[in-house]
Amino acid sequence: GGDRQVTIVEVGPRDGLQNEKRLVSTGEKLRLIGMLADCGFARIEATAFVSPKWVPQMADHEAVMRGAARRPGLVLSALVPNEQGARAAIAAGAQELAVFTSASETFSKRNTNCTIEEGLARFVPVMALAAEHALPVRGYVSCAVDCPYEGPIEPGAAAKVAARLRDLGCAEIAVADTIGRATPERVHAMVLAALDEVEAARLAGHFHDTSGLALANVDAAWKLGLRVFDAAAGGLGGCPYAPGAAGNLRSGALVEHFASRGIATGVNRALLAEMENMLAEGAFFSEP
Ligand code: HMG
Ligand code: MG
Repeated sequence: GGDRQVTIVEVGPRDGLQNEKRLVSTGEKLRLIGMLADCGFARIEATAFVSPKWVPQMADHEAVMRGAARRPGLVLSALVPNEQGARAAIAAGAQELAVFTSASETFSKRNTNCTIEEGLARFVPVMALAAEHALPVRGYVSCAVDCPYEGPIEPGAAAKVAARLRDLGCAEIAVADTIGRATPERVHAMVLAALDEVEAARLAGHFHDTSGLALANVDAAWKLGLRVFDAAAGGLGGCPYAPGAAGNLRSGALVEHFASRGIATGVNRALLAEMENMLAEGAFFSEP
């Protein structure tokens, strides 16, 4: 709530690094997460407990979650596709889980080898496990505006999936422009449709910056009441099963965007800028 405060979910270690071609060691990932924690992000999506055959970049999920920096007030989350992932994530100390499905059937198939309906069914035991451990669950609606395979998505299709995730018990639902092809007008239409099903306080915006419109898309969602947005330090990443999804919205750009309007993010801007300079100069990760 409020008009002077926003929450930024730092997804670089997961959504960023899942798509990096160069080899990033576990140690480097832990250094990245530690620096993000020092920057003051209150929520960091640390890794994904997905199949290492599907996303080899996340194969060290257990070591990353176990070794990740812990801070008072910091919540470390893990992306999970099914019960197997949820069990492993909880055992490794995840403080929040994130499940993911799509508003596009084709993307669901390509990304998780199942239909939307089958994916939702896999979340039932995930939700039960989370409840047992009193962990919140975020639900992603990928391709909420555009699909790399199906093209434009009807706002109603995204809203329908958001409603299903709400019914399953997701504390927060992140509507995602997976490939960064959305425009503010189309984000407005999609979020408006989602708001028919889910209150603004439980919606988050996840916008990739492929077309350089992510900030404008954030503004469109902000105007409709959203106060949680995702970004990745250095603009790392994309999605391995979404061709063209290169580049998350850069965290520093989002933090500065809000700061210039007097909206607090709780992030140490100088420290983040320093870190993003290191990422930009290639000084952060070693070469392959
Ligand atoms: P599948 O091959 O259909 O599953 O994959 P399966 O149940 O037949 O299992 C096959 C193998 O995977 C088995 O191993 C399982 O044990 C293993 P094997 O017996 O062959 O040695 N397996 C697992 N291993 C580790 N952790 C697990 C797990 N589950 C099964 N949790 C599956 C189905 C969903 C597992 C697979 O398709 C998958 O892992 N997909 C993940 C794809 C992914 O991570 N994509 C990127 C993240 S989504 C994204 O980026 C979008 C987002 O950012 C929002 C946006 O921008 O839109 C969130
Ligand atoms: Mg993404």
